[in-house]
Amino acid sequence: MVEVKDLTKYYGEYAAIEGVSFKVEEGEILGFLGPNAAGKTTTMRIIAGFMPPTSGTATVAGTDVVRDSVEARRKLGYLPEQVPLYDDMSVREYLAFCAKVRGVPGAKQSERVDAVMNATRVTEYADSLILKLSKGFRQRVGIAQAMVHDPPLLILDEPTVGLDPRQIVEVRELIKGLRGNHTVILSTHILPEVQVVCDRVVIINEGRIAAIDTPEALTAKLRRSQQIRLDVRGPRTQVADALRKLPGVRGVTDEDAGDGVFRFTVEADPDKDIRETAATMVVKQGWGLREMSSVAMSLEDVYIHLTTNDGAGSPSARQEPRPPTEPERRDDNEGMEETR
Ligand SMILES: Nc1ncnc2c1ncn2[C@@H]1O[C@H](COP(=O)(O)OP(=O)(O)O)[C@@H](O)[C@H]1O
Ligand SMILES: [Mg+2]
Repeated sequence: MVEVKDLTKYYGEYAAIEGVSFKVEEGEILGFLGPNAAGKTTTMRIIAGFMPPTSGTATVAGTDVVRDSVEARRKLGYLPEQVPLYDDMSVREYLAFCAKVRGVPGAKQSERVDAVMNATRVTEYADSLILKLSKGFRQRVGIAQAMVHDPPLLILDEPTVGLDPRQIVEVRELIKGLRGNHTVILSTHILPEVQVVCDRVVIINEGRIAAIDTPEALTAKLRRSQQIRLDVRGPRTQVADALRKLPGVRGVTDEDAGDGVFRFTVEADPDKDIRETAATMVVKQGWGLREMSSVAMSLEDVYIHLTTNDGAGSPSARQEPRPPTEPERRDDNEGMEETR
C-alpha cells in the first residue's frame, strides 16, 4: 500500500531524515515510533504529499506522492500534528466543507459526513460548534476529516497527544477499529501505544530507521537483559573485573563520577536479579557502595539500545550538517529484510 524508499529531507543544511525506507502492507496498522525530533512528522508530511523530500521516493498504492500528488492525496487521509479545525463551524459543516474540497460528489457528501461522524462517534455533537468541543472530540473530528473522502490509507500524526487517559483509550479503540478496512500509519513517541494498537513498528531515531519489527519481537528484545547501576568508591579496573565475574553478568561499563567514585553499569541476564550479589560482593571487598539502582528501560533507552545494537548511526554522526547535494546514502533495504 505504501512504499517509502531512501527518503532524505534537509532543512537547510540539517538532515531531518536520512535514508528512510519501509513498506506498509494493505490493511495493517503501522506504528511510527520515535522520540521528539526523530523525524516522524517530516516523514509523514512527505508521504501525505504535503512536502517534497530532498531525495528518495514515496508511493501510495503505486502513485508517486511527488510526481502525482493530487492523485496520491485522493488515496490518503492525513491528520496533521495541529488539527486544522475551523472553530466557528459546526462539526457537520466542517466535515461537509472538507468533503467538498476533497472532491466528494455533491450527492454523496452528506452520506459521507454521516458515515464518518458515526465511525468516529461524534454524531451527538454534529451541530455543535467546533469551538465548544473537548480536546478528545476535536481529535475525533480531526480523524473524521481525514476519512471523509473515504481514502484507503490514513496517516495520523500523534493522534493521542494531549488527550487525557480516557480519551487516549477511546481514540486508540477507534483506530484499532479501522484495521482491515483501512491501512493506517500512526506516529507516536509512546511505546505502549504501539503495543496496544499496531501490527508492526518502525522505530526512527535521529532521522534514521533503528528497527522494523512486530511489537512482540521488540518487547522480547528488551526483555533479553536487565541493567543496574552502581556508584562505587574503589579501584576502577578491579571493581569492574569483579563485577564481570558475577554469575549472569554480560557486560560492565564504567565511568568516572569524580571524588574517587566510579559509576558501573552492569548488564545481566533478565532471569537473575543480580542486585544482591553485586552489593554483597562490593561490600565484602571493602569498597564503598555509594548508590545502586536498577536502570529502567525507558523508551529513550530503547532507542539508544536499538540504535547501538543495529549500528544505525550515532548521535554524533547527525550533528554535522552534510551538503544537500551529496547526502550520505545508506542501504536501509538490507536492514528491512533482516528484521522481517
Ligand atoms: N520546517 C523546519 N525547518 C527546520 N527544521 C525543522 C523543520 N521541521 C522540522 N525540523 C527539524 O527536523 C527534525 C525532525 O523534526 P520532526 O519531523 O518534526 O520530528 P518529530 O515529528 O519526530 O518530532 C527536528 O530536529 C526539527 O527541529
Ligand atoms: Mg512530530
